[in-house]
Amino acid sequence: MKLNDLPTPAALLDAQRLHHNIQRMQARLQGLGVRLRPHVKTAKCVPVAELQKAAGAQGLTVSTLKEAEQFFAAGFDDLLYAVCIPPTKLAQARALRERGCRLTVTTDSLTGAQALVDSGHAFEVMIEIDTDGHRAGVLPDAALLLDIGRLLHQGGQNLTGVMTHAGASYDCRSPQELIQMAEQERSRCVHAAQRLRGAGLPCPEVSVGSTPTALAAQHLAGVTEVRAGVYVFQDLVMHGIGVATLDELAMSVLTTVIGHQTDKGWVLVDAGWMAMSRDRGTQDQALDWGYGAVCDESGDLIDGMWMHSANQEHGILAWRRAGADDTLAERFPVGTRLRILPNHACATAAAFSEYQVLDAAGDVQTWDRFNGW
Ligand SMILES: Cc1ncc(COP(=O)(O)O)c(C=O)c1O
Repeated sequence: MKLNDLPTPAALLDAQRLHHNIQRMQARLQGLGVRLRPHVKTAKCVPVAELQKAAGAQGLTVSTLKEAEQFFAAGFDDLLYAVCIPPTKLAQARALRERGCRLTVTTDSLTGAQALVDSGHAFEVMIEIDTDGHRAGVLPDAALLLDIGRLLHQGGQNLTGVMTHAGASYDCRSPQELIQMAEQERSRCVHAAQRLRGAGLPCPEVSVGSTPTALAAQHLAGVTEVRAGVYVFQDLVMHGIGVATLDELAMSVLTTVIGHQTDKGWVLVDAGWMAMSRDRGTQDQALDWGYGAVCDESGDLIDGMWMHSANQEHGILAWRRAGADDTLAERFPVGTRLRILPNHACATAAAFSEYQVLDAAGDVQTWDRFNGW
């Protein structure tokens, strides 16, 4: 299949960029002396994870038990479920483990830890640490950390370590801020591990990571693994943070021009928010891309144009300098195909059930992806 054969909208993956992103992260973390356990929630696609594994990744991180099921079925048996597990999901997690999956689960509460103990099954468990006030986790200096650790350990659970995700790195606006955030993520998580060990509790693993901190860290002393995810595709948010160039963005949405409103300076395309997602992640960054950056069919950026708004199945492209433009219909005739780079690759990918993977020779292969829980 060739690009021309594809119906639109389609989630297009540039194979060369994908390989580059995988190699770049792997080489960086190898240089820093830590393992990479990629977060597969971005692509949710077995062939992508196979490329990551072939490049040297060890184990995968998942954000849903559906991901755990799917990747285990595809032969990946070392998985970290990096969302605190509620009691209602323990039976499913246990069933996976009893089928041979080394599924590690996560908790940050005494209730969660007690439920693990009460399950009667010895899980591998990590305690989530809050290193940036962004979302979940126990503060590294909290008495609660040792209470959870003791409850798990004395209750027969295998305490394998601590994990954190510095989601606040998405708000960093300079290389210096990124370096500081990476160091904060590292040092606070290592400190939590040291407190557990100091209390006589086991804590072999220290797992950290986000794409911005993984690409900014100056050293990772005391860390055993990094969980980066969106690096595999990169996106406009990562570009705005400063950790990806536009030509590292591996996923775009292939779309077709369906009309014009020349008095308003609009080009209408068949990729609306249903295809791009509602994610407006670049809105608060220095350069707001609306719903996406507009490229021609071969992937070259069309300077000055953006997807400034979106309806369900209509994308509205316009020049950043708004105003009437009666050359639009001639320049982008109905039927013209374009590519839109997304704000947030995880959200845009979720609109599709497959990727169209374009190689350097212009051939297209289809790779399945999945959604749901
Ligand atoms: C717990 C956890 N770990 C790792 C990641 C990967 O972060 P990123 O996609 O920025 O690489 C995420 C992303 O949301 C996450 O929630």
